Amino acid sequence: MKNLLSAGLKKLRPVAPGATTAPIGRNRAQVVAVAAQKGGVGKTTTTVNLACALALTQGQRVLVIDIDPQGHVASSLRESVRIAGTSLSDILLAHSPRDLMEAVRDSEIEGLSLTPPDKALNETDTRLSTRVGREYILQGALRTARTLFDTIIIDCPPNLGNLTLNALVAADHVLVPCDMSILAFEGVADLLGTVAIVNDRLRHPLSVLGILRTRVDGRTQQINEAIGGALDENYRHLILDTAIPVNSALAQAQAAGRSIFQYAPQSRGAAAYKALAAELAGRLAAPAESSVAQ
Ligand SMILES: Nc1ncnc2c1ncn2[C@@H]1O[C@H](COP(=O)(O)OP(=O)(O)O)[C@@H](O)[C@H]1O
Ligand SMILES: [Mg+2]
Repeated sequence: MKNLLSAGLKKLRPVAPGATTAPIGRNRAQVVAVAAQKGGVGKTTTTVNLACALALTQGQRVLVIDIDPQGHVASSLRESVRIAGTSLSDILLAHSPRDLMEAVRDSEIEGLSLTPPDKALNETDTRLSTRVGREYILQGALRTARTLFDTIIIDCPPNLGNLTLNALVAADHVLVPCDMSILAFEGVADLLGTVAIVNDRLRHPLSVLGILRTRVDGRTQQINEAIGGALDENYRHLILDTAIPVNSALAQAQAAGRSIFQYAPQSRGAAAYKALAAELAGRLAAPAESSVAQ
């Protein structure tokens, strides 16, 4: 169950081994944090398959940053774990500013790069607590990456610690997965409260890209209507058109260490994430019109 990404991603290599900075590019990446203050709602599944869909079907250059200590985005990448190199913790804990590109690896999926899994992030979260300006470290480290990619997606941990705050302050937008459960529904309010704190106290203009309904099971109509209705009533303007159905192929793909596009390209899960990529690519192209500032 540790294999979560494509076998095609197994042979990772550093973008610029030993280099302190990568060349500046001409892109202006939009940074999206995938966050929910509850585990198991589909954050990692969404990060991985949305990133692949943007790269494979929208022709984008995409970077995935795995800031969750669980390392689920890339825990299948055993070879990458053995690569000695810079980790996200090295960047976040450095006493003088460092460039995230030092930690970025290319994948064998055209257009997709990622940061390696970093089990030390748990301790890093605690160690950051004593640092002045701790919430702004990732934001500063992303300057070069923003010029090299079209979209940067950050997979967040389920708690509101220093790592999640770094992700939210580094991001332009937050995407909030919500499965059809009352706990996930309540978690949406918590997350939106956090966005307000980021806007007001940390003075960072983070906007909500949308609430993504995940793991929607056609067999549980009553629950869908209850949770879907409550979401609609409270956050109608934030709910994305695309919903992700329950699809065992998505869980199987994760277990097999492959994206849904390689594991089961004809599945309902693949179709849903392809539709999500198209919907979000449209929103990200015109963020001022379609995303909603809090
Ligand atoms: N749409 C879906 N259909 C079926 N299983 C899913 C779906 N989305 C996620 N899962 C499974 O649910 C579990 C939790 O998903 P995950 O993306 O890891 O959640 P999170 O990152 O929010 O903790 C995983 O085993 C994953 O394979
Ligand atoms: Mg996860």
